[in-house]
Amino acid sequence: MKKKRKLLLLIPILIIIIILIIIILSNKVPYKKEVVKVFKEENIYDVIKDNKKYSKTLEEVILQNKYKKDYLLEYLDINYIEEDNFLDNINKLLDIGYKSNDINNIYNKIPNSINVLLDNSYDENISNYLELNYFKEDYLDRYLKYAVNSKELKSVYDVTSIIDNYSYEDTITFVNANLDKEYYTSDINVSDEEAYKIDVLVNKYHKLSSTFEPNDLEEINKDYSMGKQRLRKEAKEKFEEMCLDALKENIKIYAGSTYRSFSYQEGLYNRYVKQDGFDKAETYSARAGYSEHQLGLAVDIANGKWNFLSEDDIEYSYLIDNSYKYGFILRYPRGKEYVTGYMFEDWHFRYLGVDLATKVHNSNLTYDEYVARGMQKDGD
Ligand code: DAL
Ligand code: ZN
Repeated sequence: MKKKRKLLLLIPILIIIIILIIIILSNKVPYKKEVVKVFKEENIYDVIKDNKKYSKTLEEVILQNKYKKDYLLEYLDINYIEEDNFLDNINKLLDIGYKSNDINNIYNKIPNSINVLLDNSYDENISNYLELNYFKEDYLDRYLKYAVNSKELKSVYDVTSIIDNYSYEDTITFVNANLDKEYYTSDINVSDEEAYKIDVLVNKYHKLSSTFEPNDLEEINKDYSMGKQRLRKEAKEKFEEMCLDALKENIKIYAGSTYRSFSYQEGLYNRYVKQDGFDKAETYSARAGYSEHQLGLAVDIANGKWNFLSEDDIEYSYLIDNSYKYGFILRYPRGKEYVTGYMFEDWHFRYLGVDLATKVHNSNLTYDEYVARGMQKDGD
């Protein structure tokens, strides 16, 4: 009986001891002694205690004498990485302006590009860039420079309004499209094999060979064309179908200019330069090799009066609403002059096939942007 009572007395004592141990332990921070000593010297012990979590990054900056007090809270959130220069690099990234969240993303996704970031100024969108599936690590230096310098880039167009509004997605898109390089200064040669693909991109950066001429050009029914006009078979059939359906709604449209060979385009461009001067000609005429007309997939469309389309024409409105259903998109829209490199051409349509044309139409992007985002390769 006595024994039992003694035991009963022991229980509360034991509980008190356990509580005391818990209190003492919970008050201890989980860092090495020498680190705790620095916490106390730096008067940050309480912050660390309140924060509760252990950060190896913080412990290491202190042990290796690289601690900068402004970055205390950032260190707490930076995931430690076993690597030479890690602590120096995170300090430099923090100096530039990056935050712990950016630094974790950077080390997670582009650990080999730290030096590129260190060589450039702070970009508040870095974490956003890294989320985009069309971000290309190889272009990082260009993205960072473009974000800062784009306003100074020269173009045949006044791009101020576009540039002022652009988003971080645009930064990546525009660089992917090479818009940080002047037109015609960095050719990507399109092989003849690629040129046969219906989704091929041809613009002031993507050049066709001078000898490329598609082998399936067919003449458009003369009811729908001004003189002899040829397109590649698939585009020609769809064009005729579109014209026929339009006619049922009393809309008359005609192919005014379609396939043009390299040498024909060369003559045309030179003629325009003579007629309107170089700067003006550049806004509406492609140099030879850079024209979609050489693909046999572009068509300049005329209205019922055989004038090239203008946005006031009902034929134009009809096509804007319907052409994608036949595989054609307006290729050089208003407001995107800076992207396409051409003035708004209310008459120039490009065949992409019904599926792709529909997607491009719905995206509200030019085809240049669409390709710069890799979307032509995406499935549904
Ligand atoms: N007018 C278009 C841009 C061309 O020459 O191909
Ligand atoms: Zn055209």
